[in-house]
Amino acid sequence: MQRLNVAVLGAGGLVAQRLQQRLASHPWFELAAVAGSPRYLGMALDDVPWVLEDERPSLPPLNVVDVSSPNDVQALAKEGVCVAFSALPSEEARRLEPMWVEAGITVFSNASAFRRKDGVPFVIPEINPRALVEQSAGTLRHACATNCTLLPLILPLAALNEAYGLEGYTMRSEQGLSGGGQAYMEAALAEGKVKPTIPGEAEKTEAELRHLLGWHGEATLDCGRTMRRDGHHVFVEATFAGSMDEEGVEQVLSAWSHDRRMSHLPSAPHQPLMLAPTIDVKAHLFADGNGFPQSPNPATERAAGMAVVVANLRCPRPNTVSFEAFSHNTIRGAAGGVVLLAELAHSMELL
Ligand SMILES: NC(=O)c1ccc[n+]([C@@H]2O[C@H](COP(=O)([O-])OP(=O)(O)OC[C@H]3O[C@@H](n4cnc5c(N)ncnc54)[C@H](OP(=O)(O)O)[C@@H]3O)[C@@H](O)[C@H]2O)c1
Repeated sequence: MQRLNVAVLGAGGLVAQRLQQRLASHPWFELAAVAGSPRYLGMALDDVPWVLEDERPSLPPLNVVDVSSPNDVQALAKEGVCVAFSALPSEEARRLEPMWVEAGITVFSNASAFRRKDGVPFVIPEINPRALVEQSAGTLRHACATNCTLLPLILPLAALNEAYGLEGYTMRSEQGLSGGGQAYMEAALAEGKVKPTIPGEAEKTEAELRHLLGWHGEATLDCGRTMRRDGHHVFVEATFAGSMDEEGVEQVLSAWSHDRRMSHLPSAPHQPLMLAPTIDVKAHLFADGNGFPQSPNPATERAAGMAVVVANLRCPRPNTVSFEAFSHNTIRGAAGGVVLLAELAHSMELL
């Protein structure tokens, strides 16, 4: 596989640094540029404050360039940078990602700005990988990963929908503070309390699920924040056209998970779903599809934090399943997910 020169859009944010961490020693992608806002412009990457709890990985000797400068972007394109991973806030993404695309650099975005827009594939590799080809007509220019809350909800529901025909669901979430970004998380940790509601999150999550599954049933979502650094936990009850029992549901989830392994991609979990009796939000944060590594190094243990844990499965009625699910929001729900998407595109020779 040809190694590609890539840029990260964002220098000191949570997702930007998760991306730098995952790209520091990636076998297919070489971190060749970091482009940021004015706050760290020109600064050596090693001097940009490191905001993740894990150790700062050994990063290449780069200085932060201007994410909004057409000259900087064109210079990077000339130097051979052909992929950019965006960790920009949505407003900046809307304004700046097209400039990177126009310079000939394929943008993989974590921001919501271009999700569900025509011509910009919106993809979860295990669910709709063909959308990369169908919507990009040849060389891929721009693609989006999903919202972090959606991952623990949609992976099990996609499997169950295929087997039983999803008719409706309710979901309540308890989302880690890092989902709100670095400044939000630090303020909540310092204050020791958090505003429990997340405006707009339920609507966004519901719309993304409908789009990805092409589904039109009834849904009620209630998204909330909780006093925990990382990890999004969802509590789901879903009704189906077909009937089921707990053993059958476990078999369906296990078979789907086995079938959707993407072991040819460096960031793929060993399996996307893991079944457990209950969720342990500390022990399960870095689920990798085989087990639950404790304090892994995400720069080299790429599967860690990429699996969704499904637990507490019940069938209270013959056509109804309730379960909980949990995943790492800045890994599976952001940086890890978008790098996995780029790996899929590269493996399909779309870059
Ligand atoms: N946190 C999550 O769990 C998660 C999950 C999925 C998707 N996302 C999405 O990922 C994106 C980044 O989220 P985050 O959690 O990393 O937020 P964050 O910690 O608040 O970081 C914000 C990032 O935005 C950049 N930025 C801020 N103002 C800018 C400007 N005026 N021009 C250019 N860049 C600017 C910053 O770049 P500098 O460091 O260079 O200043 C920084 O990297 C958002 O779109 C978010 O919705 C986040």
